[in-house]
Order: sequence, then structure tokens, then C-alpha cells
Amino acid sequence: MTPARLAVLLSGRGSNFLALAEACRRGEVPAEVVLVLSNRPEAPGLVRAQELGIPSQVVPSRGVPREEHEQAVVAALEAVRAEWVCLAGYMRLLSPPFVARFPNRIVNIHPALLPAFPGLEAQRQAWEYGAKVAGCTVHLVDAGCDTGPVVVQRVVAVFDDDTPEVLAARILEQEHIAYPQAMRMLLTLPWRIEGRRVVFSQGGGGQQGELP
Ligand code: GAR
Repeated sequence: MTPARLAVLLSGRGSNFLALAEACRRGEVPAEVVLVLSNRPEAPGLVRAQELGIPSQVVPSRGVPREEHEQAVVAALEAVRAEWVCLAGYMRLLSPPFVARFPNRIVNIHPALLPAFPGLEAQRQAWEYGAKVAGCTVHLVDAGCDTGPVVVQRVVAVFDDDTPEVLAARILEQEHIAYPQAMRMLLTLPWRIEGRRVVFSQGGGGQQGELP
């Protein structure tokens, strides 16, 4: 199978990017990260990309009109012939024209069990709400905020003595499993969208892409 060409968009630390890149390198995800793109020049994830020899690019968003910024991002993605766009801590909403440019080929990871706690600081939202379970969601991106069809979710417990930071770290461990798992499933199994549901044709239950 020819490796799929993934572009990763990030704004910060880049640990999910690293998890994806390592899963690709180990052959667990039949893909190659062909570009790491950040809207923030100071994003530590860019340094991680350079360390791995993966091309990286900054397309600044601060002070730039949305349309202009997104056109520059699309041009960068087209220049590397990206087939999939993986959002990994990319702290910007994508406009409908951007989403339409890569239909069902933009994937996001969110640190909550959607539809609970969309938006910013989802782990803190779950903790403050007093939720007893939390987790993460990998979903296809539509033009809404964290609203697209779910591909994979993973659950963690919330303990009484957690802090938002401790809970976020527990969720992040699961994110690093969920994102490669979701990409492996999307790239290796037949799937279709039925209503809001991402339906994988082989096996059942959504755990087919479980990594070792
Ligand atoms: C992750 O927890 C990711 O789920 C979250 O940002 C963090 C990025 O960490 N994304 C969102 O909150 C998007 N709404 P990373 O840079 O180490 O991958």
C-alpha cells in the first residue's frame, strides 16, 4: 500500500504529532507525515518536526485576515500534495471553504468525550463539571466547532483527587493511542458515513484498528 500523505497542523507542543509520526515510522499507520504546519512560529512542535527531519512550515495567523491565512495554508498543503490533514492541537476553527477543499479528509483530536465539552480547555471543563469519566475523541472535521462524525473515542476515569492537569495528562496518554488507531482504521478499512456515524465495514464496535 502506498503510504498516505499526511499533513499535521499544530499550534503548540506537538505530542500528538509525535505519536502519529512514530506510529507511521513503526509501520502501524500506512502513512507518511509530509509536512508539519503551524500558525504559531514559537510552537514547540515545529522543533520536534525538525528533529525528525520532517518538513515544517509556519503560516502566521496573527493579524492576518482569516481568508488570506487559510489560502496560504491550503497552498502549502497543495504544494506537498497532502491527502489528509490531521489537526493536532491546532487552535483555529477552519472555515467552510477550507473544510470543503478536503472533504472527509480532515481529522481532529479533542480532549473530551464529544459532544460533551467542546471548545477550549476541555479537560478543565470536565473536571469542573464533576464528570466521573472523561476521555478523548478523534473525529472528522466539518464546519462546526468539534462537531464532526466520531471515528474513535477512548475513556479514562476521573478521580476525586485529580487536578485538571493530572486529568489532562491521563487523557493525553489515551490521545496518543487514539489518534494512530483512528488513522490506521481510516486508512486500512473500508468505511462510509451514515448520518453522523462513521461506519467501518469490517468487524464491529470501532476497535478494529487497535494497536498492539
Ligand atoms: C491535545 O490535548 C489536543 O487534544 C488538544 O490540544 C492538545 C495538543 O497537545 N486539542 C484541542 O483542545 C482542540 N480543541 P499536543 O500539542 O501535545 O498534541
